[in-house]
Amino acid sequence: MKTIGVLTSGGDSPGMNSAIRAVVRNAISKGCKVMGVQRGYEGLVNGQLEELNISSVADIIHRGGTILKTARSEEFRTEEGRKKALNVIKVFDIEGMVVIGGDGSFRGAEKLSQLGIPTIGVPGTIDNDLAYTDYTIGFDTAMNTVVDAISKIRDTSASHGRANIIEVMGRHCGDIALYAGLAGGAESIVIPEVGLDIDQVCRKLIKGKNRGKLHSIILLAEGVGGAIELGNIIEEKTSIETRATILGHIQRGGSPTAFDRILASKMGAKAVDLLMEGQGNLVVGIKGNQVFAMDIGEALSQEKKLDYDTYDLADILSM
Ligand code: F6P
Repeated sequence: MKTIGVLTSGGDSPGMNSAIRAVVRNAISKGCKVMGVQRGYEGLVNGQLEELNISSVADIIHRGGTILKTARSEEFRTEEGRKKALNVIKVFDIEGMVVIGGDGSFRGAEKLSQLGIPTIGVPGTIDNDLAYTDYTIGFDTAMNTVVDAISKIRDTSASHGRANIIEVMGRHCGDIALYAGLAGGAESIVIPEVGLDIDQVCRKLIKGKNRGKLHSIILLAEGVGGAIELGNIIEEKTSIETRATILGHIQRGGSPTAFDRILASKMGAKAVDLLMEGQGNLVVGIKGNQVFAMDIGEALSQEKKLDYDTYDLADILSM
């Protein structure tokens, strides 16, 4: 393989740059040229590409965001759009693609493979919502951002004797709320996989207050509902003053943790190795600290399940 392309697509995640660096440098070390596609599939459709060399990816391993920019492309979803993308791929002599993104991006990668372009998906999303892999690139950094926010909010929560709701991202997946909640010692964790039992949350708050507990943190995953509405209901039911914080896109930025940089480096390099072996239509994942590859369709058909042991543990420890 003489030339490959790389793009980032969907919501950005910290560590995407580390993955791009690994793709570029591993490919160049194997004598292969790399074309960087701007703004995901949108750039593929519109021919926004430029060659990436060793220096193009210098000084980015620690930077959040993605130097290639990202987008959610409507045009690539259409047959016409994909035809345009295929033409661009042919014009630039691209023989294989690496797509860094989440499930929507992987569906695009599957389409590219079906069009005859060997494509490898690398999981980049803060949501950790892909069942086939233990971790996605960006999840660890986002989780640490949330833990940091919990510590700060806990200070003011304790000073005022208030309940504080912190709403976090994750779309339909509660992993950010669950693991950050466990690490941050949240009193309640409300996630879409379990749903909201408002009376249970209120009982816990009142019991804590009666025991002399000064702070109360409720970690709410966005897939369940809004923090402000929940705060109003809790305040009404418990008479405990309640405040809501929506962390929002702060969770998508920042310098990636060492874990995310290492994960991204290993996964990005593996994607190139697979292309060099002549493979395609695969996604890269990690299980039991081993990086592996799996058919895209098979990976996407797996249903993400909640780790109930961790959920129960968090509940027991937050008594
Ligand atoms: O998929 C990543 C994610 O940050 C989700 O957690 C969130 O629901 C969504 O993207 C937000 O998307 P946008 O940045 O387009 O508002």
